[in-house]
Amino acid sequence: GRVLVLAGGLSPEREVSLRSGRRLCDELDRIGVDVELRDVDGSTLPALDADPPAVVIPVLHGTSGEDGTIREVLDLYGLPYVGATPAACRGAFDKATAKAALSAAGIATPPAVTLPREAFHDLGAAALIDRVVTRLGLPLVVKPRAGGSAFGVGRVEDAGQLAEALMACFGYHDCALIERAVAGVEIAVGVVDTGDGPVTLPAVEIQPVTGVYDYAARYTPGATTFHIPARLDEDVLRAAAAAAVAAHRVLDLRDLSRTDLIIDADGVAQFLEVNVAPGLTATSTWPMALKAAGLDLAVVCRDLAALASR
Ligand code: DAL
Ligand code: MG
Repeated sequence: GRVLVLAGGLSPEREVSLRSGRRLCDELDRIGVDVELRDVDGSTLPALDADPPAVVIPVLHGTSGEDGTIREVLDLYGLPYVGATPAACRGAFDKATAKAALSAAGIATPPAVTLPREAFHDLGAAALIDRVVTRLGLPLVVKPRAGGSAFGVGRVEDAGQLAEALMACFGYHDCALIERAVAGVEIAVGVVDTGDGPVTLPAVEIQPVTGVYDYAARYTPGATTFHIPARLDEDVLRAAAAAAVAAHRVLDLRDLSRTDLIIDADGVAQFLEVNVAPGLTATSTWPMALKAAGLDLAVVCRDLAALASR
């Protein structure tokens, strides 16, 4: 039956999602899969109803895509889809929830606090900044509590930069996650499960030319050097793979995920976040890692779709 790839939508990651979706459709088409790409908008629901696909692959990044919303709709229509349930997506997409779950499972994650926009206004910036810096030290990373592609993410070297970083963050989400910045090697570990349990892909080491893995570094070809596998000791790679599997299992994910980690100066794998709809663009690490493992993106996604629709 027909495979429907859902992409686009209204999140800040709309353009990234369209790139992911177009690539996946092209590759599925190449191996003879009957596939359709739909940029999600108000016409999507009537179309699902009028002409239901056999299975859906949600390639929506960010809000409404990765927070479980679109999958709730698919559940209501009784349509099978690739990937985690709405409840699992909610837990994974919320960075604070994900960090707490992984921490409880014995995986290291940088210390952090959440700060809702209202608290920032009610308590006053000066008092808050004092409290946060006393608790976490410096430098810090400020991120939207839920979001992707580094939108609204800022690094804070001294306390004077925190208020501005928070204001930028609140442009994307009503709650900030303020995390201690950990120096080390940034890696991404993909997970895929085509029926025999979660299997990790080779760790991708991320080395942005500017040193900062921001939006431009993520999506401009040549702006980041990727090393596959990451240039790390075997035992560190094993621990990173274990953390990625732990994230997949603890958060009850399905089919695919990508866990982002920092290997700190002591070689400890520190969990940053997990993505339930990892990017599939030309510069995205999940497809790169698949390729390095000798796997074909289209074949893997066709198999996941077939499993989901069984
Ligand atoms: N949020 C982007 C798409 C990623 O993690 O790949
Ligand atoms: Mg992400």
